[in-house]
Amino acid sequence: SLYNKKSYTIGLIVPDIMNPFFPELARSIEDEMNVHGYTVILCNSDADAKKEEHYLDILKQKYVDGVIFVSHTLKQESIKEWGLPLVALDRPIGEDIPSVSVDNRKAARTAVEYLINKGCQSIAHICGPSFIPNANERYLGYLDAMQNTNQKNYEELIINGYYQWKEAEKSTYTLLKNNDSIDGIFAGNDIMALGVMKAAEAAGRKIPKDLQIIGFDGVQISEMLNPELTTMAQPIYEMGTKACEMLLERIEGNQVLETMSCFETRIIERSSTL
Ligand code: RIB
Repeated sequence: SLYNKKSYTIGLIVPDIMNPFFPELARSIEDEMNVHGYTVILCNSDADAKKEEHYLDILKQKYVDGVIFVSHTLKQESIKEWGLPLVALDRPIGEDIPSVSVDNRKAARTAVEYLINKGCQSIAHICGPSFIPNANERYLGYLDAMQNTNQKNYEELIINGYYQWKEAEKSTYTLLKNNDSIDGIFAGNDIMALGVMKAAEAAGRKIPKDLQIIGFDGVQISEMLNPELTTMAQPIYEMGTKACEMLLERIEGNQVLETMSCFETRIIERSSTL
């Protein structure tokens, strides 16, 4: 804000604009803020704590009225003192900072149960980075489903793809080459599912006949793939809109009721599963 006047500008800090989840989120935030006469400054942090703090400083120097951020490193204790309205999106960082997210553990469990119901008997999980809480929750959701249904020997079927397609492709290829029985894969996000599909093709597995795949996110590219990807979709656009509403309530000093908003996910069934 400019000496208590508003700049009608907000900051949006995301970890990686190359991951299609984030441009979809940015699009929705820009659309919603424009309706209210605001401009959005986009910052890419590479999930690096130093860059995030640096961007918060720069944004404050530019007199933004508030910031929506996606971060797993910012500490609520330190940024509470920052003195401007904040909303954590996709990755809550504590109860004192309002947040918008989904129940990642439950959604992941449901995604794996879906593969089990489709007849898969040996399901692998390609994880996002374990230091990102939502990736860890998805991993725990996978474990819940595997344990609840008494699946055997799944410990060797858990590998890391770091929320990147290339790493997911490499590690999945090695996994498939060393394990003939895998007939299902739960990828922790959609771009890793894309890597999984490339690996499956290179390893000579037919999707979905030999190998069924489910992703997570529901980004638009999941529908452009061949075969089209079944995925546990987050309501990305609605989540962006909700983050704007929560931020605007705080900027405009309206009565604030909501502090945590948790959205439902849903499976979009396509041809990467039977
Ligand atoms: O695609 C990357 C992941 O990062 C998404 O699933 C989203 O939840 C974000 O945290």
